[in-house]
Amino acid sequence: MNIVIVGGSGGIGQAFIRNLVGKDDVLSVHATFNRNEPKFFHPKLIWQRMDVMQQSSVRTWSETLGEIDWLINAAGILHTRDSRPEKSILQFEPDFLQQNISINTVPTLALARFTHEKFKHGRPAVFATVSAKVGSIEDNRLGGWYSYRASKAALNMCIKTLAIEWKRTLPNVTVAALHPGTTDTALSKPFQKNVPKDKLFSPDQSAGYMLDVLNGLTPEKSGRFWAYDGALLPW
Ligand SMILES: NC(=O)c1ccc[n+]([C@@H]2O[C@H](COP(=O)([O-])OP(=O)(O)OC[C@H]3O[C@@H](n4cnc5c(N)ncnc54)[C@H](OP(=O)(O)O)[C@@H]3O)[C@@H](O)[C@H]2O)c1
Repeated sequence: MNIVIVGGSGGIGQAFIRNLVGKDDVLSVHATFNRNEPKFFHPKLIWQRMDVMQQSSVRTWSETLGEIDWLINAAGILHTRDSRPEKSILQFEPDFLQQNISINTVPTLALARFTHEKFKHGRPAVFATVSAKVGSIEDNRLGGWYSYRASKAALNMCIKTLAIEWKRTLPNVTVAALHPGTTDTALSKPFQKNVPKDKLFSPDQSAGYMLDVLNGLTPEKSGRFWAYDGALLPW
């Protein structure tokens, strides 16, 4: 299998890579980073710098790829150096919403647009993005985090819509949204205080769980939102 990991420099992305390069049926892993230079190397692993916010960067990078069996997008943000997710509407700033949409939502559409040719081999394939349960509209019980929630809800709509289109044009591809569970990475660090120990996964744990989910998927299960434990989440 030829695998692509977008956001391979992140906590969850790196864990996907560590898990996948050791598998006999994996021939190559093409991984991307943006600001953080890679620290892990392996003969099957090819690193490339790519800014998912720039269409031109996604397009140029996609032209270097061959056939893809699995693509997993693990790039995303929850907070930046200057901004934290909103606790109240009084903290809402349009720029932060735009930033969330630019990194959490738009790249999945750009990736689909510029890589779709690479899935035309007819073999069962996967196109997955790491979303977040807080993007579920039905499951929203606590409120807050307007920008992050909205960007992941929009991402989920994009994934569902893409699955409908690709059912016709790329029926071999399973399109999936994934929830990793709360995972100990830079993204979740400032928000881990109230998370029970057994509910805070290491990146290796959460990547392992999500790969188990992906291994169980077939194209008739395309267009769904999966939790790390294989449970179906409401959109
Ligand atoms: N950790 C959790 O508890 C949790 C829970 C639910 C959902 N998620 C989701 O899981 C995904 C991965 O999160 P993580 O916890 O692994 O976070 P992380 O460790 O902060 O990694 C974030 C990744 O996104 C990449 N990225 C950010 N901006 C980018 C850009 N403009 N272009 C290209 N890449 C960019 C980063 O690349 P560079 O570092 O190279 O810039 C990095 O690889 C995110 O979508 C997040 O929303 C995480």
